[in-house]
Amino acid sequence: MKTNPISQSTDVRAIEAWMMQHLRHLVPEIEIRAKAELAAQINRLKTERDAVILGHNYMEPALYHAVADIRGDSLELCREAQKADRSVIVFCGVEFMAETAKILNPTRKVLIPSTKAGCSLAESITADDVRRLKAQFPGVPVVAYINTYAAVKAETDICCTSSSAAKIVASLDTDTVIFIPDEYLARNVARETGKTVIFPEQAAAACPGANTFIGWHGKCEVHDLFTVQDVENVRRQFPQAVILAHPECPPAVAAAADFSGSTSAMVRFVQEHPAPQYFLMTECSMADNIAAENPNKEMIRLCSHRCPYMATITLEDTLAALEHLRYEVTVPEDIRLRAKKSIDRMLALTT
Ligand code: 13P
Ligand code: SF4
Repeated sequence: MKTNPISQSTDVRAIEAWMMQHLRHLVPEIEIRAKAELAAQINRLKTERDAVILGHNYMEPALYHAVADIRGDSLELCREAQKADRSVIVFCGVEFMAETAKILNPTRKVLIPSTKAGCSLAESITADDVRRLKAQFPGVPVVAYINTYAAVKAETDICCTSSSAAKIVASLDTDTVIFIPDEYLARNVARETGKTVIFPEQAAAACPGANTFIGWHGKCEVHDLFTVQDVENVRRQFPQAVILAHPECPPAVAAAADFSGSTSAMVRFVQEHPAPQYFLMTECSMADNIAAENPNKEMIRLCSHRCPYMATITLEDTLAALEHLRYEVTVPEDIRLRAKKSIDRMLALTT
């Protein structure tokens, strides 16, 4: 996604003026001055440290618009991390994303501003789990969602993101795959590609049958909260609203929505669609970020559903990351090389 020119500014007044114009309905005015000052300091330090800031679409609005040099979904940020030519990459996202940046661009110093930026999906599976799956289903290729840690990716054949999953699966020379760790993404992609999902405990034999995904019971603790009742309630109260769901949502929710796609696919959908009102079933900050750039579109929010891990990345911690060059992300070289193969295969198929 295009850089916002204000993220290059070190002028507090210019940043404050931009925020007053675009964020006043999202951020209390009393906070705007403080956030503008932090943003100006960060932007100054970015140059001094020869750093680039990558920001996931879920970052809070001031960080996302006034500090991140490059913004996007997981796939876009993978590509940008690979191309980054600054000495330092500050990854404003969660740990598996920062790890992916390090895997793809190992000569850069990769920093993540918080040590608490985990992910319930990445936590749901270990490298040992994958080794056990491969032993149970010998020869069946393993597709790993990017929301996994490096040691897990190292055990897999190919990665995918929410925007590339169907294409990745279609590219494989088999119609039966181990698809980990997101149960709902597996079910959503299976529905799209006409496959059945089974789980290791259901497969009596090593041969799971044709046209099958062998899934795992990982879930995104945020998207798991959305229900079909939410969709019905919003349709009743806001009959004009277009409803978008991330593919990490339960399958019945994704099916009830008008559109399902990656975070950036949802951003583009709202930008390009003429409807005046939208309900996004994903982390709430994204609706704020879209609202800031699309003042003519009304975003209906369900802000009780927040990603607690993304929310640990703040302007204050991003400044501290640049000041103290912390917290550095490292990946053991043998794991990095094996994980990279899996990510590279995905990138080669999604240009
Ligand atoms: P995207 O790849 O769609 O940005 O999703 C990442 C994520 O963690 C969503 O919860
Ligand atoms: Fe992980 Fe869900 Fe947070 Fe995305 S929203 S980082 S999948 S916990």
